[in-house]
Amino acid sequence: MTAQLPRLRENVVRYASELIGATPLLELVTTGAGSRILLKLEQFNPTGSAKVRMAREMVLAAEREGRLRPGGHIVEPTSGNTGTGLALLALERGYTFTAVVDGHAAEDKLRAMKAMGAQLVHVDSDGSGGPSTVQRRRVADDIACRTGAFRPDQHNNPHNNAGYRELAGELLADLETDVDYLVGAVGTGGSLCGTVAELRALGSSVRAIGVEPVGSIIFGGAGAPYWQTGAGSPSGFPVGANVRYDLVDEACQIGDVEAFATARVVARRTGMLVGGTGGAAIYAALRRLVQLPADSTVVVLVCDAGEKYLDSVYDDEWLLTRGLRNDAVQQRIRRLFTAYDESLRLAGCRVGTGS
Ligand SMILES: Cc1ncc(COP(=O)(O)O)c(C=O)c1O
Repeated sequence: MTAQLPRLRENVVRYASELIGATPLLELVTTGAGSRILLKLEQFNPTGSAKVRMAREMVLAAEREGRLRPGGHIVEPTSGNTGTGLALLALERGYTFTAVVDGHAAEDKLRAMKAMGAQLVHVDSDGSGGPSTVQRRRVADDIACRTGAFRPDQHNNPHNNAGYRELAGELLADLETDVDYLVGAVGTGGSLCGTVAELRALGSSVRAIGVEPVGSIIFGGAGAPYWQTGAGSPSGFPVGANVRYDLVDEACQIGDVEAFATARVVARRTGMLVGGTGGAAIYAALRRLVQLPADSTVVVLVCDAGEKYLDSVYDDEWLLTRGLRNDAVQQRIRRLFTAYDESLRLAGCRVGTGS
């Protein structure tokens, strides 16, 4: 009998989804000019990625709107992180979940979805070496049409962006300054645009820097294959409404070589393994930092952890066979860190000598 009584003062949750949010900030770099790069480590969410925030929001909204009923079925194309988020919400709330995936997805993400009971439908790669985003979407639409399953459509569902409201609140609560720059890899646009929209609603003057892989067409570049998974849109894929161009102040493209080399350098420097798109966003922030006004606070959204990419981004053989390993680039990135460290040391000396 007593076992049924709620133990109100205990710090225990009943559902893994209650652990979403309150992810930590890690200071990666501080410069002599008082500027810093902070990493918002979204891998500390259940499922190991930011995307579970928006998976929860989309599922709860669908229930409210009557688009998901008890025992219902969810189908969505995914490179894996949205899928693991939806798989978690589906198992907690009694739905079946079908993820439509391609050979571009990190194998460990596919295994994680399966471990949580998701059904996987594989779409043959189109042979380009890039993601089969267009085919994935077609197959998911077809399944939804045939079965009546709920298809969240993360590229156009406004609850994707709304899922990052809490993240914005966490940043302002954790910092004693404004967020001057928010840097994030853009796929659907939800994490960067959703966070920026809410930061501004809360009074922040943040500037948003969107990052996509070289070869992605979101910000107007030419389409080409790329290996960063989750971010970017390949040629032929219509960019969805959740990329809010009106909210993004700057955009840049980062190549796979730079993205993956940065992730590896960060791993050696901090002991934290970030995913490939986190590497790209950090690289963009590192390059930009030197040009920013003194005392700037730059927050980089790190979507997921490197542990999901031990067989790719962190595997020498995988990189070498794809021509993605470049020691000179890796050294250049290390020198960038050293230069910032040195600027801090020199500033400390100036303060120390009163000059
Ligand atoms: C690893 C990774 N990085 C970046 C993104 C891009 O995030 P968003 O879709 O919120 O733009 C995703 C999205 O799935 C992702 O999985």
